[in-house]
Amino acid sequence: MRDVLPPESMRMRAATGVFADVVTRAGYGEVAPPLLEDIGVFARLGDGTDVVTKEMYDFVDKGGRHIALRPEQTASVCRLFVEHRPPTPFKAWYAGANFRYEKPQRGRYRQFDQFGVEVLGSSDPDLDVEVIALAHDFYRSLGLTGVEIVINSLGLPTDRAAYTAALGEFCRSRAADLSEAGRDTLAKNPLRLLDSKRSEDRAALADAPPIDEFWSVEAAQHHEHVLQGLTSLGIEFTEDRRLVRGLDYYRLTTFEFRSSALDGAQNAVGGGGRYDGLVENLGGPSTPGVGFALGVERTLLACDAENVFSAPSNAADVFIVDTAGCGDALAMTTELRRSGLRCERAYDARSMKAQMKAADRSGARVAIIVGEHEAQTGTVTIRDMSGATDQQSISRNEAVEYIHRLLNP
Ligand code: HAM
Repeated sequence: MRDVLPPESMRMRAATGVFADVVTRAGYGEVAPPLLEDIGVFARLGDGTDVVTKEMYDFVDKGGRHIALRPEQTASVCRLFVEHRPPTPFKAWYAGANFRYEKPQRGRYRQFDQFGVEVLGSSDPDLDVEVIALAHDFYRSLGLTGVEIVINSLGLPTDRAAYTAALGEFCRSRAADLSEAGRDTLAKNPLRLLDSKRSEDRAALADAPPIDEFWSVEAAQHHEHVLQGLTSLGIEFTEDRRLVRGLDYYRLTTFEFRSSALDGAQNAVGGGGRYDGLVENLGGPSTPGVGFALGVERTLLACDAENVFSAPSNAADVFIVDTAGCGDALAMTTELRRSGLRCERAYDARSMKAQMKAADRSGARVAIIVGEHEAQTGTVTIRDMSGATDQQSISRNEAVEYIHRLLNP
């Protein structure tokens, strides 16, 4: 888990702003589910997933309830939907922390942030296209150009079940060639073997049957519609029949966003898909759903690697240098801040030299000097920190207006 300090904290806030702009324009409203839920909410994500079986921070609270810190927010949004029954299609976005007890490394943390959207109540394939396009537009808005979209379909639940059985049978016939961990995965969820990174598993599965041979007509049509939609928007993608993703709730469309600027192991900057049975699983009416979540830290690592979306400047506009100590600095600082400027000052009655140094460090374009002479004459001295113009003495009463004119000519 990381501490986030300025300027990275400002960068995360700025990224949240960009995401909010993109999804708000598409009619999504922000939701903020609690950080923890009854463990049953997340158990629905499937007992074949590491996220549920190995990585959950769960505990019994003082009331004897078994609860867990959320490992993701799709299940929380579905629970929230069942509880509040908003009108459909319910289009929600969120930003916030998630917790997974994973082996930490660069780009993989035990507390990490996600931005995401979920749409509940429509099976229109245009929505699959819409959410992918929103993520794509968000990455573009940050300036990222190296994010690839990888897409697949897991078919309808019956297709998926038939495929899982066929794949299981195929893998069992090759069990001796699988890695030990691979045999473990085979027992729990053969689908997850498809994206195993272990070389023995990859070799053993080299001619495993592809999932599209098991798609029903409906699944194939849905997939075709999604691909055509993306193509019509000029959004490039790659199809990968082995993309199954780490959570069990997906059916039909699944997709992942990968940054070519990041290291292979942690290059997934986001992912999502359709999960038409999850709301029902949580006790709600049969409700289709589609959405994605993006890893904020990884997205910003990709920005570092592509040299885009640097932290916003936290430079002050104005710095107050006070050598009179008569309260004028306090008043002036407050007045300038209230007028909308970013105004910094020195404290502890330090020497003029130390204060000028602090003014320099603050990045302010202008310093206002309030010394004894100024206090007596009702003036302030204005110094252009770039040194481009000469120092000026002006009336204290006109100072705020003057600074505004100076900064925004
Ligand atoms: P996920 O693939 O588990 O999907 O997570 C989405 C993204 O969160 C990943 O692509 C990655 O960028 C980031 N992420 C995951 N784990 C970590 C970690 N330990 N450290 C840093 N970043 C991480 C979901 O969470 C689904 N809820 C997505 C979804 C929404 N599907 C439908 N709607």
